[in-house]
Amino acid sequence: MKSETYEIPRNLIPDRQRSRRLRRTESLRELVRETRLSTSSLIYPIFVDARITAREEIVSMPGISRLSLSDLSEEAKEISALNIPAVLIFGLPQHKDPKGTEAYAHNGIVQNAVRMIKKAVPQLTVVTDVCMCEYTDHGHCGIVSNQTVVNDVTLELLSKTAVSHAEAGADIVAPSAMMDGQVKAIRTALDEKGLTEIAIMSYSAKYASSFYGPFREAAESAPLWGDRRGYQMDPPNRRDAMREIAEDIKEGADIVMVKPALSYLDVIRDARATFRTPLAAYNVSGEYSMVKAAEQRGWIDGKRVALEILTSIKRAGADIIITYFAKELARSLKETRL
Ligand code: PBG
Repeated sequence: MKSETYEIPRNLIPDRQRSRRLRRTESLRELVRETRLSTSSLIYPIFVDARITAREEIVSMPGISRLSLSDLSEEAKEISALNIPAVLIFGLPQHKDPKGTEAYAHNGIVQNAVRMIKKAVPQLTVVTDVCMCEYTDHGHCGIVSNQTVVNDVTLELLSKTAVSHAEAGADIVAPSAMMDGQVKAIRTALDEKGLTEIAIMSYSAKYASSFYGPFREAAESAPLWGDRRGYQMDPPNRRDAMREIAEDIKEGADIVMVKPALSYLDVIRDARATFRTPLAAYNVSGEYSMVKAAEQRGWIDGKRVALEILTSIKRAGADIIITYFAKELARSLKETRL
C-alpha cells in the first residue's frame, strides 16, 4: 500500500521571511525583545496605619499588609535591597473628621512615615498620596457641603497636605483627589514655602473605577454615601483623559498618571503618543487581587500572568508602573522571563 504523503502547495510555503527563526531560543528572543521590564521603573505602594503596633495582612490583597510605624525602617531597607527605587505612601489616621484634619497635621501618619523612611534609607524616593478620603469621616476626597465635594475649599487643604509631606521630606507629592486646579494650587503652595525642588506626580486621568475595591478596604476610604463619579473620570471617555493630562502639565505636573492601568491601556498609549512628560500607570488593587485570587485557586500561573500584565503596561507606553507586585517582580525578574 502506498503511504499518503502530505503535499504542501508550493505557493503556501513562505520563501524568505520566516518569523520563527528569531523565536527559536531564549537568547534569540532576548535579543529582539521590544519591551523590557525592570525594577528600576517600579513604585511600591505601602499602607501605614497609625492605630496598630504590628503589621496586619489585608485580606482582599494577599501578600500586602498594613504597616505600623515601627515596621517601616525594616520595610524600607527590604524594598531598597530589591532595587525598587520608590515607595508611594498611604496613611490611615487615628481619627477621621469632616475636614480630614490629620491629613495635614505635622505629626500625621504620613508625615511621620516619611521621616522614618528617609531616616532609614535616605536614597529611597518617597512619594506621598495627597488626598482627603482616608481622613474624612464621610470618605470623600474633599470638603463636603450639601452632599457635594466643594472644589476650591478642598484645594487649600490639599495644598496644606502637600506642603506638610514635603516638609517631612517627601521627594514627590501625588495629588489623587481629582479636584480641578489641584496641581496649580499645590505647585504654588510648595513654591511659596521655598519647596521648589519637590516634584508633583499628578493622578491626571483617574477614572471612577470599580477596580479600587480592595484598596478601599485596605485604606478604609470607601465613601459613606454616594460615589466618586462627580469628580473622577467617566470610564468610557478617552479624549477627556488627554484634556485632563494637558491641563495638569500646564499647571506644572512633573509626572502624569493614568489610573487604573489594565482596562485603560488605550489611554496610556494615547498619552505616550501625545505628551513628552514622564508617564506613570497605576496597576491598582483590583487588578492585583484578581490575579491573586485566580492563582490561589490554581487557575492561572500568577507569577507569569503578573509579568505579562506589567509588560503590557510598559508596552502601552508607561515609563513608571505603580504596582503591588513590585517586590515579587523584583524577586522573580532574576529567575523568570516571559
Ligand atoms: C484616593 C486613592 C484611591 C486609590 C489611590 N488613591 C482610591 C479611590 O480613589 O477611591 C486606589 C488605588 C488602588 O486601588 O490600588 N486617595
